[in-house]
Amino acid sequence: MVPDTASGCDFVVVANRLPVDRDTSSPDPQWRTSPGGLVTALQPVMQAQAGAWIGWAGTPDEDIDPFDIDGMHLVPLRLSADEIELYYEGFSNATLWPLFHDVIVPPEFHRAWWDAYIRVNRRFAEAAADVAARGATVWVHDYQLMLVPEMLRALRPDVSIGFFNHIPFPPWEIFAQLPWRTRILRGLLGADLIGFQRPTDASNFRRCVRMNFGWTTKANAIRVPEDPEVGTAEHVAEAKAFPISIDTSALDALSHDPAIVARAAQIRAELGDPEVLILGVDRLDYTKGIRHRLKAYGELLADGLIDREKVTLVQIATPSRERIDQYQHIRTEVELAVGRINGEFSDLGYQPLHYFHQSYPRDEMTALYLAADIMLVTSLRDGMNLVAKEYVACRPSGTGVLVLSEFTGAADQLTQAVMVNPHDISGLKAGIVRAVTMDEKEQRRRMRAMRRKLQGDDVQTWSRRFLQDLHALDSDKGISSWE
Ligand code: ADP
Ligand code: G6P
Repeated sequence: MVPDTASGCDFVVVANRLPVDRDTSSPDPQWRTSPGGLVTALQPVMQAQAGAWIGWAGTPDEDIDPFDIDGMHLVPLRLSADEIELYYEGFSNATLWPLFHDVIVPPEFHRAWWDAYIRVNRRFAEAAADVAARGATVWVHDYQLMLVPEMLRALRPDVSIGFFNHIPFPPWEIFAQLPWRTRILRGLLGADLIGFQRPTDASNFRRCVRMNFGWTTKANAIRVPEDPEVGTAEHVAEAKAFPISIDTSALDALSHDPAIVARAAQIRAELGDPEVLILGVDRLDYTKGIRHRLKAYGELLADGLIDREKVTLVQIATPSRERIDQYQHIRTEVELAVGRINGEFSDLGYQPLHYFHQSYPRDEMTALYLAADIMLVTSLRDGMNLVAKEYVACRPSGTGVLVLSEFTGAADQLTQAVMVNPHDISGLKAGIVRAVTMDEKEQRRRMRAMRRKLQGDDVQTWSRRFLQDLHALDSDKGISSWE
C-alpha cells in the first residue's frame, strides 16, 4: 500500500548502521561518528541533502526515537541481542562477508542465520516504506541488506530504489555455494540501479544472474520478470560500477590545518624521529592482510634489508566484530606477530613496531597520514579501501609512497602506487624496499598523478553520478526500450 505521505522524506538512506555510535564511557553518553568506509563516504552526502537515514544504533535491545543530528534525520531500528548474533555476526559477517571476500576464511551456512536475515531485512524495508514520501528515492547500502530492494519494491512500487554494494561481488563459481543464492539475487534485482565498486564486480553479478536464472542481459541491463508470489511487477534493473571515493577537499583542508600539521610533527618526535615512518591503518579484519604485512616487515628487519635504526612501523588496527571467532583468531595472530617482532628487534632506545588497537578522531588520523612517509595497504581482497585514498588526499607536500595491494578496488584508480600481491611475501618485501628507497622526484611524480585523480573523483561526485543515473532510469521505466 502506498501511504499518503505528504510529510514523508524524499531521500532515504537505508544502511545497517546509523552514521553515529553512542559513546557510553562518559556519565553523559554522547553520539559520535562510527568507524567504517560506508559512514565516512555517506555522511557528507546526507548533510548536503535533507534526508532520512534508517539504521541500527549499534547496541542491543534499545528503542530510540528518531532524532536529528548535524543536518541528518536519523531513524534508529531496534535489533535484539539474538538478531545481532544471527543476522549481523552470523549471516552478514560469517556467511556473506567471507563468501564475498574470496573465501579467505570458510563461510558458514546456517538456516537459523538466514531466517534472521530475512526477518531483519523485512524490518528495514518496512521502515523505509513508512518514511519515504510518494515517489521518493531510497538508497539501500551493502551486503547486510540485500533483500531490502525487492521487499521495498513490493511494498512501495512508487519509489525509486538504488542499491550500492560496498564490498566485492564474487564470481559465480564462489557465489553458487550460497544455499540461498536465488533469493539474494532476487532481493538485489528489486532495485532499479545496483551499483558496485569495480566493473569486475558488476560483471560478476550479471553473470551470476545469467547462470542462476538463465536470463539474458543487455550491456548493464537485466530484464527482471514479475514475481506474483512476492508481488513485484516486471522491470528492468541496471548493474554497473560506481567506484566510491572520499571527501577529498575536507581532508585536504584538514591536512593544511596548522594544529594538525603540528600534531604530525609531534607524532614523529614522539616516535624518536625515525628517518622513515611506515603506517598501516585497518579494521582488524582477516581481509586486510595485516599478518602478511607483518611477516614481510619482520623478514626485512631480520634480513637487514631495511635499517632498523632508521625505520619504524605504526600499525593501527581498529577493533571490529569482536565477538566473531575468525576476528578473535586474527587478533591473536596479529598480536603474536607484533610481540615477536618487538621482542626480537627492539632495544632500549628503539622499537620497530608500534601497535594500537584503538579508534581515533579524524584529526588524529589526518595527523598520522601527514606524519607517514609510507602507507601500507595489503588487503587480500577489499571492495575499495578508503584508507589508500585518504592517505593520498593528506599529502599536500607531494611526497610519500603508497604501497597498494592489487586486490583492492582502489588499485583500479591509484595506478601510480607501488602495486603488490600480498600473498607473495618476497614481492611484498621488494615493494616495501622500493618505497623506502624511492627518491623524492619519483615520489612527487606519482603522488601528483594520484592527487589529481582524487580531485576530480570525490565522494560527492560518486553520489551525484549514482543518483543521476538512478533518476535517469526512473524517468524511463525500462521495459519499453528493452526490445
Ligand atoms: P573498511 O570499510 O573495510 O573498514 P576502508 O579502508 O574502506 O575499510 O574504510 C575504513 C575507514 O575507517 C576509513 O575512512 C578510515 O579512516 C577509518 N578508520 C580506520 N581505522 C580507524 C581508526 N582506528 N580510527 C578512526 N578511523 C578509522
Ligand atoms: C565495511 C562494510 C560496511 C561496515 C563497515 C564496518 O566498510 O562495507 O558495511 O559498516 O565495514 O563494519 P561493521 O560491521 O562495524 O559495521
